[in-house]
This record gives sequence, C-alpha cells and structure tokens, in this order.
Amino acid sequence: MSSDLSPIDKAKFVAARKAVDYVQDGMRVGLGTGSTAAWMVRCLAEKIRDEGIDIIGVPTSTRTADLARELGITVTSLDEAKWLDLTIDGADEFDPELNLTKGGGGALLQEKIVATASDRMVVITDAGKEVTALGAFPLPVEMIPFGWQTTKALIEETLINMDVLGRDTTLRMNDEAPFITDEGNYILDLHLRRINNPRQLSLVLNQVPGVVENGLFIDICDVVIVGHGDGRIELRDINEGTVSEDRIDLLEADNIFADL
Ligand code: 5RP
Repeated sequence: MSSDLSPIDKAKFVAARKAVDYVQDGMRVGLGTGSTAAWMVRCLAEKIRDEGIDIIGVPTSTRTADLARELGITVTSLDEAKWLDLTIDGADEFDPELNLTKGGGGALLQEKIVATASDRMVVITDAGKEVTALGAFPLPVEMIPFGWQTTKALIEETLINMDVLGRDTTLRMNDEAPFITDEGNYILDLHLRRINNPRQLSLVLNQVPGVVENGLFIDICDVVIVGHGDGRIELRDINEGTVSEDRIDLLEADNIFADL
C-alpha cells in the first residue's frame, strides 16, 4: 500500500505520523490546512481510535473541519476552546530560524490566528520546503475585496522600499473569478523571490489599509518536522536548539495506510 504513494506523499505522511506523538489526552489541538495537514488529521483520528484518547480539534479551514468531522474527531471553534495546547500545520517554506511562508492553500488568516493562540506550533513538511531565505514561494497577502486594486497599488508602492528581489503581484484566481478565502477575502500573491528582512516586511504589509494578514509566520513556529520519502525524519526544535533524527518503517506503517 505504501508503495502506491509518491515519495513526496510518503515524506508528508511520516512527518505527520511523527507530529501526532506530540498530542496527549485532554489536549486542545489546532488542525492545520493543506495536503500534509490532511495526513496529520488522518493519523490523529487513528491515534484517537487506537489509544482511546480524548482531544478537541480546532480546524483552520472548512476543508479541515469537514475532514476531521468525517473521521470522527471532535471539533470546536477557537472562541469555544479559547487557548490551545498545540497546533500542527504544514508550510510552504521554512528558513533556518523556523520562520515560515504559509497560505499556499489560502487559509493563512485562520492558520495564523490559531497558531498564535497555541502554546506550541509544530510544522510538518517535506525537505523541498527548506530554504536559506524565504521568498521563492510567492507570499500570500489576504485583503478585503473592497477597493482591492487600491490595496494592490499601495502594496506595490510599499515593496519599492523593501529588501526583496522581485516585486510582481498577482491576484489569486479560481478559474475566471478571484479566489475567495473562508473569511470572504481575496489573496494577492507577492512574487518576491528573496525576502531579506521578513520581520520588517510582515510589519509593514500589515500597515496597508485593506490588508487583513500576510503569510509570514515570524517567531510562531517551535518545531519543524521534515519527512523524507524513505521514512527518515528530522526534528528541529528552535527553543531547545536541537536537531534530532528518527525513522518510521514504511512497511510496518502499511496497516496504518490501509486504515487511513
Ligand atoms: C494552507 C497552508 C499549507 O499549510 C501550505 O500551503 C502547505 O500545503 P501542503 O501541505 O499541501 O504542501 O499554508 O494555507
């Protein structure tokens, strides 16, 4: 069964499988969005069934909420849960300081609110998302639809003074129409190629009227788990300053794949 998966999917699976080790009975857990996070939701459902633990999930998108409910995970809103023990989510890029670009799946706003309201954020990725500097992946900026062209022009003007390599911007589309987020907003993707000062850029972008939030996660992520297609896992903990390795036997994991 595991042999049916591509190396990237195996990498995402092993990272997700390792991440659910952080989940303990009674926890309130933020559930991220995207294909890696979807593996995590499946692994979490399996863990809840196998170990009989009781957890409450706070999803970061309608997609994740639908999947979690379908798999029998109890979900609630952030306002009900108030504060979370842990959030597990994917990312589009991470740098050596574990700063992230997120929002490739369009859920950056809820993801950032949920991760910030958590004691700990664990990010699960494959090795292709590791970069020395953020920016190769277009940076998503969520903006309200009202006056979006003015907001876009203001963002482009702001970028002139920023230490970045590219300054093109594109409105994210869904076929012929603008992509609409769960909060009813648009997304502007910034093609910056290299962001030399992500902390400054994040602060400045959020000053532009019409911008709701940007996809830079600065000082939010605590641990990145990097999965590899052969079952190897690297864990980078920014607070402990440690890098450790582990392995999941993909053949032994076949019974898990069969259930997922
Ligand atoms: C969604 C996100 C995702 O976590 C990010 O795009 C990674 O997705 P995937 O795991 O499918 O590669 O930020 O808004």
